[in-house]
Amino acid sequence: MAKTLNVGMVGYGFMARAHSNAWSNVSHFFDTGYRPVLKAVAARNTEKAGGFAGMWGYERVENDWRKLVEARDIDVIDVCVPNDLHAEISIAAAKAGKMVTCEKPLARTAAEAMPMIEAVEAAGVPNMVWYNYRRVPAVMLVKHLVESGRLGKIFHYRAKFLQDWTISPDVPQGGAGTWRLDVDAAGSGVTGDLLAHCLDTAMWINGGISSLTAMTETFVKQRKHSDTGQLAPVGIDDAAAVLTRFANGSLGTFESTRYARGHKAAYTLEINGEKGSLAWDLHDLNRLQFFDHSVEGQLRGWTNILVTDGDHPYLGKWWVPGLIIGYEHSFTHQVADFLTGLATGKPASPTFREALPANQVCDAIIASGQSGQWVTLQT
Ligand SMILES: NC(=O)c1ccc[n+]([C@@H]2O[C@H](COP(=O)([O-])OP(=O)(O)OC[C@H]3O[C@@H](n4cnc5c(N)ncnc54)[C@H](O)[C@@H]3O)[C@@H](O)[C@H]2O)c1
Repeated sequence: MAKTLNVGMVGYGFMARAHSNAWSNVSHFFDTGYRPVLKAVAARNTEKAGGFAGMWGYERVENDWRKLVEARDIDVIDVCVPNDLHAEISIAAAKAGKMVTCEKPLARTAAEAMPMIEAVEAAGVPNMVWYNYRRVPAVMLVKHLVESGRLGKIFHYRAKFLQDWTISPDVPQGGAGTWRLDVDAAGSGVTGDLLAHCLDTAMWINGGISSLTAMTETFVKQRKHSDTGQLAPVGIDDAAAVLTRFANGSLGTFESTRYARGHKAAYTLEINGEKGSLAWDLHDLNRLQFFDHSVEGQLRGWTNILVTDGDHPYLGKWWVPGLIIGYEHSFTHQVADFLTGLATGKPASPTFREALPANQVCDAIIASGQSGQWVTLQT
């Protein structure tokens, strides 16, 4: 008989929907020993939160996240709110003895993330950060192939994450829907929002980043602030282009922008090694492109692998070979790993501590973008 795990959700936005979907369907597909129950959702707007709770089957609504943290019947607090709230909620949850799963980036800066790490570790509570792209089966397969040495020595890692939704100067900053443009709420712009994903995946696959130099730009310098209605300086980076050196000697290039007209969520990555290359594209997320240099000369070329077989990561739990899965499955996989971690005592990655390097590299990008200097990092 599976143990119940009562979920307390903070927020009812984009990620609260993605996570609620994952918490609700995970035990239909993965036998982890735990069965999540959507217990309560907390938000300031209880009318909207009530609608959300009704759609997803949450049993009750609280008007303050502190009530969730204090509630005796909640086991895990799921932090799905803007970045400036991650630290306060996570620390309070840990101190109350709750498990905490927090959206990425862990915090606005590495300095803000440190007390969060200390709090969950002092309390000894299970914790995890939602770097969900690790759990796309094709991306997990990249990790396995690189680890098994199929690419040999790695020379290059390149990734980009492109969008185009903030080109108009009429897009405001701050408040619901546009908090990502307000540096106080978000911490940074595309660096913490989009590149954090690319960097987390990169370091998970290819090891730590030892130094970097970055070019950042804010194309629209002033925007109306939703809270005040007044024009205010924009503090976020609209675009970032980064050169990195990895500790293993390979070179990295990372690019992110919200000004690439025509691109909505164009996350791609490519790795080039001595024996081969791998390439993945979020818009075709079930496929992995593999160039295997060991193949005989005339037959050598890029192989297009449809990652849907039962022996591919996570796929044995879904349909039959050839049937594709989507973006939302990455969250279900992450929940499945979290629950398995509870059952086995081997925590699912990334824990808060394991998510810290992404924050540190983001800080270094912002610093380098401002100074124009190379920044050295501890790996
Ligand atoms: N893993 C991913 O791929 C991914 C994708 C999108 C967002 N995110 C991260 O998820 C987090 C949330 O982003 P989102 O896109 O869901 O944002 P969103 O704007 O869609 O939702 C934010 C929610 O927070 C709520 N909120 C704000 N202040 C609150 C408060 N004081 N108390 C309770 N609720 C409050 C809002 O009402 C809203 O429901 C961010 O940290 C973001 O970086 C991650």
